[in-house]
Amino acid sequence: MKGTPLTEDTYDYICRLFPAEDDFLRNLNRDAEAAEIPPIHISPEQLAFLQVFLRSIGARRVLEIGSLAGYSAIGMARALPEDGMVICLELEPQSVQFIRRKAEEAGLSHKIRVIQGDAAESLRNLGAEAPFDFVFIDADKPQYKVYMELSYPLVRQGGVIAGDNALAWGKISQESIEEPDVRGMQVFNRALAEHPGMQACLVPVGDGMAMGVKL
Ligand SMILES: C[S@@+](CC[C@H](N)C(=O)[O-])C[C@H]1O[C@@H](n2cnc3c(N)ncnc32)[C@H](O)[C@@H]1O
Repeated sequence: MKGTPLTEDTYDYICRLFPAEDDFLRNLNRDAEAAEIPPIHISPEQLAFLQVFLRSIGARRVLEIGSLAGYSAIGMARALPEDGMVICLELEPQSVQFIRRKAEEAGLSHKIRVIQGDAAESLRNLGAEAPFDFVFIDADKPQYKVYMELSYPLVRQGGVIAGDNALAWGKISQESIEEPDVRGMQVFNRALAEHPGMQACLVPVGDGMAMGVKL
């Protein structure tokens, strides 16, 4: 294998030297836990990666599919210009209220809009909000391919669609596995890798981020 496997020490070094998580986001995680929202947000080094990436493509409009407590949405909104926007598609009403409150506390409510409902339904009605520079898929895994197909027409040329958990908790290469979440990620990764309208890669940051740029 080429590359350097991560150890705890190396991981701590990365997070210390390139921090993306501040007191606000740490408190957000604590408040989310108190509200019994599960701690399944992206990791700090994934957020650092996304922020650098968004700035590098000059992103203004971001679409997030699955927003939980707003950790990644607030983190991404911070990397957008003042007239930028993160549109969040989130199923759970409790999460929607939580994200709106945190966006307000963060002084970012002008940059974060949350749409409550099933993401596939919302995506079918988002044409007027297009084009997006970046789509971040981080919701129910069996639907990732559907989300990719529905969001593809909403992305500008040179824009990117990314899916978190592309390594499926270390199980992505187990071809005969039947766990629906792992199967969902395998189906998504393949569809992205073979999409004729995108060039794709899988970045092994956190639990893996598969990314395709629209040609
Ligand atoms: C892994 S969490 C998102 C974490 C978030 N991106 C972060 O890093 O801070 C997945 C979220 O997807 C939402 N979700 C699941 N199924 C959904 C659906 N069909 N439509 C919209 N959101 C959905 C869940 O309610 C949950 O909040």
